Amino acid sequence: MMIVISRPPDTSSSRRGSMILSAAKCFALAMAAVVACCPPAAALTAREIRARLEAEGDRRLRANPMFAGNLKFPVNWAGDGILAGDPDTEIRGIAVSWLATEALLKEALKRGANLFIVHEPPYGTQIAAQPLPGEEDAAARKAAWLKKTGMVLYRCHNVEDLIPGFGVRSSWPKWLGFKGKPLAGNMIYEVYDTGGLTLDELSRRIAARVRPLGQRTVGVVGDPARKTRRIITGTGVGTRWRDMALMGADVLVVTDDGNQSWEAGQWALDANKSLIIVNHGTAEEPGIKALSDYVAKLVKVPVIYLPVGCIYRTVGAR
Ligand SMILES: [Fe+2]
Repeated sequence: MMIVISRPPDTSSSRRGSMILSAAKCFALAMAAVVACCPPAAALTAREIRARLEAEGDRRLRANPMFAGNLKFPVNWAGDGILAGDPDTEIRGIAVSWLATEALLKEALKRGANLFIVHEPPYGTQIAAQPLPGEEDAAARKAAWLKKTGMVLYRCHNVEDLIPGFGVRSSWPKWLGFKGKPLAGNMIYEVYDTGGLTLDELSRRIAARVRPLGQRTVGVVGDPARKTRRIITGTGVGTRWRDMALMGADVLVVTDDGNQSWEAGQWALDANKSLIIVNHGTAEEPGIKALSDYVAKLVKVPVIYLPVGCIYRTVGAR
């Protein structure tokens, strides 16, 4: 009798195959589990950036005793918002500027931004229903451009005015060289010691500080030889001479949009106080630069800073 010892079937290759299949199955299952518990990162949108800035505004203001007692949290940042474009657009690049002129908007688009963060409104307050005689309506043209390109325009104003650290209000005195704790302050103004400089010395120092912001000269009201004590700063249209004077300052750094010069100037001459007058854009530009730097740290997409500074230049006779 012949005993046939049958060899077990060679299953090594099929075993290998099934092992590979099992490994692949496990990997697929593992990946499915990963995907199920960690959905892909949400696209960065203008809505998200706005929410992050406002949450940071609330957080920093709540932590600051000067603001915390005067604000209700969460702060209603009415006045800020998405003025053009779809807030849920995925953001590929961001431009940050004080103004959204047509030229700056076009530059932002050319350089790859599809979100434009702007401080001031893109249209003036004197917009009429009809264009001025002999002119194309510049505002309508800008609105049509925004619609056509889909550029998202986010007006970041009130939160950027107030936020401690990179806000317009706190960045301005720092830019002028006043560091440390102010002698006095409120939601709008800060008061610092001038170190006893004369008005001429002080105004020349401020002129040197604003030069990189595009302002070559500052306006000065008051006796140049007068010794100064306390200087007060504010920004934008928030430089009301009367409110500033009530805070005990003898030198007021005001903006050209914050007062009527005949009125503030007359008071200063009558009261033996001093005014140093700068452009609205000059006073706010340090905050816009600081905002741009902050946003660049917040996101992974490119951030372009588009400076404006002083909106005009001064010329003298040749
Ligand atoms: Fe402003």
